[in-house]
Amino acid sequence: MTADVVVLGLGYVGLPLAQEAARAGLSVIGFDINDAVVNGLNEGRSHVDDLSDDDIAELLRHGFRATTDESAIAEADAAVICVPTPLAEDGGPDLRPVISATRTIARQLHPGMLVVLESTTYPGTTEEVVRPILEEGGLVAGRDFALAFSPERIDPGNPVYGMKNTPKVVGGLTPECTDRAAAFYGRFVDTVVPAKGTREAETAKLLENTYRHINIALVNEMARFCHELGIDLWNVIEMAKTKPFGFQAFYPGPGVGGHCIPIDPNYLSYNVRARLGYPFRFVELAQEINATMPAYVARRAQDILNEDSIAMRGSTILMLGVTYKPDIADQRESPAVPLAKQLMRMGAEVRYHDPNVATWDVNGTELTSVTDLDEALASADLTLLVQNHKTYDVDALAASAKRFFDTKGVVTAPGAHRL
Ligand SMILES: NC(=O)c1ccc[n+]([C@@H]2O[C@H](COP(=O)([O-])OP(=O)(O)OC[C@H]3O[C@@H](n4cnc5c(N)ncnc54)[C@H](O)[C@@H]3O)[C@@H](O)[C@H]2O)c1
Repeated sequence: MTADVVVLGLGYVGLPLAQEAARAGLSVIGFDINDAVVNGLNEGRSHVDDLSDDDIAELLRHGFRATTDESAIAEADAAVICVPTPLAEDGGPDLRPVISATRTIARQLHPGMLVVLESTTYPGTTEEVVRPILEEGGLVAGRDFALAFSPERIDPGNPVYGMKNTPKVVGGLTPECTDRAAAFYGRFVDTVVPAKGTREAETAKLLENTYRHINIALVNEMARFCHELGIDLWNVIEMAKTKPFGFQAFYPGPGVGGHCIPIDPNYLSYNVRARLGYPFRFVELAQEINATMPAYVARRAQDILNEDSIAMRGSTILMLGVTYKPDIADQRESPAVPLAKQLMRMGAEVRYHDPNVATWDVNGTELTSVTDLDEALASADLTLLVQNHKTYDVDALAASAKRFFDTKGVVTAPGAHRL
């Protein structure tokens, strides 16, 4: 073999994996079906937030190369699948990229190979979807090659926890598969945690994200009634947080975004409903609460304008920060989009500013980030803090705005409104 590993899918998940493996001295090949991604990487250009062009240059120095040529997969000891699992029309995961990547590996599979699925999906995917495709050529999983699931825990923009120092859960089809996958990850991840099997590893990932989703929904629902009752929920959370055990702080906001939190819990509820015929009520309730937050924030914006006898229709609203989390450019599933749509539907003229997003597509309406922020603040009827990027001096922004509505609970300036 000429490579230790081939990573299939060179995005937010695949690239940090390639980076850590290469840094640890493994020889790494990257396979992707997107020519632009492959050419960009080979020319030293990064397309994800967490890796800079310098990081790609380092990867290339370590011998990494990206390719669209699937025959390269046959050269590798291990293949790791990091392709997207978007939501399908019926609410379950769209497994087409996983199936396609698995077929690609199946055509190059050789005895002794380790195949790991990292894409987030419903429990059973590794055994019921990936395994049969790989076995079509006659090799048997657990005997002729090893098969495992290892959930990706990448947290884009997190300055403390990256691929190397975040414990890696691995669950194999057999105990030998688990050992093989654990030994593989142990070469470049500090802590590897063996799961009982593939289903436990798959479900662990969904539990983690469902837990976040539900707890965010809890504070989002509390935000609504605390506002009505005149209670500062942000202060409530600061108080509760002082308990050193049994409590973890979650914060309200204009909705949930990103590729994981709004989507993954659906995989679980979809699977429970499809297999068992009953709903996963916690997830469905959380979904409902979190999905209605943009409309709630729009209504609060309307109330703020109303206090000063200004109609939403015809007003100008400036949104600050439109990504789904601070200090990154990723806009996937950002609640800023339904929020902007709702404000537009109510007749407002929406402008936005985001240091990471030069142009922004609000479902077909293309907006350009304001260049003169002072002018935009001074002229907008209401400024809405949607994402608190670290370049924002929020109190100074609030002081320059006619009216300021902070959905992130950071403003201290008197007169500003908080969610
Ligand atoms: N981004 C995150 O923060 C994050 C965190 C945890 C888990 N995940 C999960 O990891 C998986 C990958 O997510 P991502 O954010 O890296 O996606 P991404 O869109 O950033 O990258 C995926 C890459 O896969 C490529 N691809 C698609 N089909 C392919 C195929 N058949 N063969 C080879 N390459 C193919 C695409 O061209 C793209 O470059 C998803 O299941 C996601 O749920 C993502």
